[in-house]
Amino acid sequence: MQKPAPIGVFDSGYGGLTVLKEIVNKLPQYDYIYLGDNARAPYGNRSFETVYHYTLQCVQWFFEQGCSLVILACNTASAKALRTIQQNDLPKIAPDKRVLGVIRPTTEVIGNYSESKSVGILATNGTVISNSYPIEIEKFFPNLSVTQEACPMWVPLVENNEYQSHGADFFVKKNLASIFGKDPKIDVILLACTHYPLLKEKIREYLPVGVKLVSQGEIIAASLEDYLNRHPEIEKKCSKGGKQLFYTTDSTEDFDNHATNFFSQSIKSLHIDLS
Ligand code: DGL
Repeated sequence: MQKPAPIGVFDSGYGGLTVLKEIVNKLPQYDYIYLGDNARAPYGNRSFETVYHYTLQCVQWFFEQGCSLVILACNTASAKALRTIQQNDLPKIAPDKRVLGVIRPTTEVIGNYSESKSVGILATNGTVISNSYPIEIEKFFPNLSVTQEACPMWVPLVENNEYQSHGADFFVKKNLASIFGKDPKIDVILLACTHYPLLKEKIREYLPVGVKLVSQGEIIAASLEDYLNRHPEIEKKCSKGGKQLFYTTDSTEDFDNHATNFFSQSIKSLHIDLS
């Protein structure tokens, strides 16, 4: 039998670290490998073909490291690449391995947070255009009204360390005004991009009173725990040493300096070249 290996956690850049942080809190016993494709981030405005091609390349890299389970901790990659990878690629390249995303687990529970039965989804252009959230939510909460808003400037603000600046105020205010203009009944705002939790403080300043702000980290961690309980055949292939390794496709110095904001711990990353 194949040797147990770490669980892979992928994002286009730093955002997935907000998810990994919650996963490690909940499931500290496992080993993890994180890969940020920082050299090619952001993915949010890229075409389906490009996001699929980049994501598949990263997933294959995780498989080369021995990982049997890979989490796409990126909504854009989950929206644009996950289904094709699961349905077309895995059966051919790695039928015993699994790739999971962040959209499905979120849509399974999001309706439970809302009393008014109106939720707002803030995400990248790519995630919004894919319509993945409304389509998936409809399956679990058919009576929930779902309003989306693309916030194309938010990831660049976060990636460039401008999330506490006045520039961030401008764009946060603008996108929140727009989504509440479309549906004033919204009482839950979902941060459907793993970068957005860094803007939480700013978002709260402009959020109408009583509106709940939901980010995905804890939801994904709980769902992963449940998945591992239900799939002992995958669980036993995940190594348990409590270690985390970090890789980036760009500068390790930038990654280490920046990643602390997302992971609340200092990080020493390694570089890989995928191009
Ligand atoms: N963090 C990714 C997400 O959750 C998107 C970032 C990007 O645009 O690359 O959608």
